[in-house]
Parts: sequence; structure tokens; C-alpha cells
Amino acid sequence: MSPISIVGAGPGALDLMTIRARQRLETAEVLVWTDSLIPQQIANVVKDNCEKIKTSSLTLEEILLILIKKHKEGKKIVRLHDGDPCLYGAISEQICKLNDEGIEVEIIPGVSAYQATAAKLGVELTIPDITQTIILSRAEGRTGKPKEENLHRLASIQSSLCLYLSARHVEEVQSILINYYPEDTPVAIAHRITWPDEWIKVITLKEMAQTSKEKKLTRTTLYIISPTLKIGNNRSKLYNPSHSHLFRPC
Ligand SMILES: C[S@@+](CC[C@H](N)C(=O)[O-])C[C@H]1O[C@@H](n2cnc3c(N)ncnc32)[C@H](O)[C@@H]1O
Repeated sequence: MSPISIVGAGPGALDLMTIRARQRLETAEVLVWTDSLIPQQIANVVKDNCEKIKTSSLTLEEILLILIKKHKEGKKIVRLHDGDPCLYGAISEQICKLNDEGIEVEIIPGVSAYQATAAKLGVELTIPDITQTIILSRAEGRTGKPKEENLHRLASIQSSLCLYLSARHVEEVQSILINYYPEDTPVAIAHRITWPDEWIKVITLKEMAQTSKEKKLTRTTLYIISPTLKIGNNRSKLYNPSHSHLFRPC
């Protein structure tokens, strides 16, 4: 029997899906998809006779019942998540239970929202002498976070900080970050990046909450707080003539 394919849809644009993801969708007999986070155009890639099941109003138990039942029927199943499934996809609880049932699972990676946002801005998030670190995290919200990962601690590094699932908590987020990053640090706000109605703007940290409120952003919004968003002239060692390495010895 085929394994259940947990597929990353990418950020929303059809042509930002991997070839492998598209192939799994095109051959799926059952599509179980996160409809609140994925545009319809991605779900439309499946065949006309593929059964489509939306999960936005379902519990984990209800989703698992469907996956297990359809798998027993011998169907090719795609469980579709937005972006890359390893980030905030709640796939771990699904994989554990499916494995308990003796069902194999494969994961097809996808382009995450932070990558699509950086690409749209035409920037690198790891610039020598500015930061070599990217943190992917979120505001605590109702889910909570391990206390060692609180925003104070993450912000104190002053790296490129990508915040998922944080728009509803933006005032609190800004009030914490401003203690660690200069208030004129650039912040990219990306709403539905690569969707037909995408909206993206780079503002300063002190404007982060106000801009989000004015735009009424609550969902499908990613923030990148990073000193690298200021365009500079910082060059890498890798391509510097004074720096030798295996492929370019002195
Ligand atoms: C449940 S998480 C899943 C993240 C996803 N697995 C990824 O790798 O992008 C949903 C959050 O991801 C971010 N997100 C996902 N797609 C996005 C998009 N197209 N534009 C902006 N933010 C997005 C938002 O912060 C949203 O609230």
C-alpha cells in the first residue's frame, strides 16, 4: 500500500510547489487539506474524481479517522499542509498515530513563508558581520512556548527573526523587541505572500504594531525583523580574492 504523503504546498503560488509535491497531488485519490491556509488554486491541481476533504473545522481525531479509513480502502492519500510541513504543521501528532496503526508516512518538503518573503524582497537574511543566524519562532499566544524560548531571549541575539502566527499579538511582540533591536530596525510584514492578493511592506520596528492594526492583519501574516533588510555593502569572505579555499587556492 502507498504511504500517506504529507505534502508541503509552499506559500501559495502554484509554481512554488516542488515537482514531487505536484506529482503527489496529481495522482492523489483523496486530498485532506488545510483549507484555511492554502489557496484554492493549489487544491485544484488534483484530478476531478479526487475526493477533497477540508480540515479547518476538524479535530485531530476526526482527521486521523479519515486518514486511517481511506488508507485501509487502499486509496492514495495526500495530507496537504501550507509552506513546509516541518514548521507549525502539527504533523508530529499525525505521524505518531499513523505509525502506531502501522501506516507509513512520507513527507514532501515545501517552500516556507519566510523564504518566499525574503525572495520577494530580494534580500539575504545572513550577511557577514551583520548576522549569520535566522531564528524561526512565534509569539506565545494560546499555544505557549518553552520558557527558554521567550521572545526576550530570542531578540537579545539581534539576528534575523522570522515570526509566524504572531499578528494577533503584535503589540506585545513590538513592546518586547524594542528593548533589544534599535527602533528603526527594518521589519517586513508579509500577508498572504505569493497569493493572488499578497501584501508586503517594509516598515520600522516602531511602526510594526500600528501598521498591522491599520491593515487589520490577524492571519496568514509573517514578520521578518532583521538588520539585513537595510541594504548595505557587506561582502562575503567566500568570494573575496584575499580568501583562499579548496576550490580557489592561492
Ligand atoms: C500554521 S503556520 C504554518 C507555517 C508553514 N508551515 C510554513 O512553512 O510557512 C501558519 C503561519 O505561517 C505563516 N504563513 C504561512 N503562509 C504564509 C503566506 N503565504 N504569507 C504570509 N505568512 C504565511 C503565517 O504566520 C501563518 O499564520
